Amino acid sequence: MKVLEQLYEGKAKRVYATDRPDVVMVAYKDDATAFNGLKKGTITGKGAINNRMTNFLMKMLEKNGVPTHFIEEISSRETLVKKVSIIPLEVIVRNVAAGSLSKRLGLTEGTKLRRTVLEFCYKNDELGDPMVNEYHIAAMGWATAEQMQQIVSMALKVDEILTLYFKGVGVDLIDFKLEFGLTADGELVLADEISPDTCRFWDAETHEKLDKDRFRRDLGGVEEAYQEMSRRIMGE
Ligand code: TMP
Ligand code: ASP
Repeated sequence: MKVLEQLYEGKAKRVYATDRPDVVMVAYKDDATAFNGLKKGTITGKGAINNRMTNFLMKMLEKNGVPTHFIEEISSRETLVKKVSIIPLEVIVRNVAAGSLSKRLGLTEGTKLRRTVLEFCYKNDELGDPMVNEYHIAAMGWATAEQMQQIVSMALKVDEILTLYFKGVGVDLIDFKLEFGLTADGELVLADEISPDTCRFWDAETHEKLDKDRFRRDLGGVEEAYQEMSRRIMGE
């Protein structure tokens, strides 16, 4: 497989064409941003950790019946994935109140939710990823009703599998963000990444934050938190 020109540069990853029209290569960067790109920095080693953690978790989800874009890890920072057209939604899954939900509803961070909460945001940096509901999504044609049913059931299944898995390594999965894409044959698959950039991980005993909130909130120990999650999941 030959890697060709860069197709796209995002805040945390670059995407390259390959000589196979249905395959692209993702390269993870150490760059970190928060608050819609207002805060910028570097988290040394993050690209490699996020690449390997995402691939580990995507493979686990595949084994449990969740279709993903993952094909093959080709280096510590680079992975081949199916080329998809991304559905322009951030699908947020929440088990415990934190972050913007705590702010919006005045809930103490750490308040257990009676049931899993799903939220949808329109992926648009200029607009600051505004929250939308299924009426907006249908009205704008971002996804069909059938695709939304699949997205909801896949998101809940991912939550069940990941929550159980993380419990086993002493981590509470507080909330996370997923993205979905459509392959050339119209298959809906889980895309993007699953990493400390896109999840809130709290140590189950001490409630210490082991994710990007350490960067967003200037808590220190950012690299150490990513390394700790890498150790717990991949033993390194
Ligand atoms: P929030 O509480 O800030 O809405 O974040 C909810 C979850 O989504 C949290 O695990 C972090 C993740 N997230 C992203 O992956 N990308 C984003 O741009 C934002 C705002 C949140
Ligand atoms: N990555 C997002 C941004 O820079 C936000 C975040 O993860 O907090 O806007």
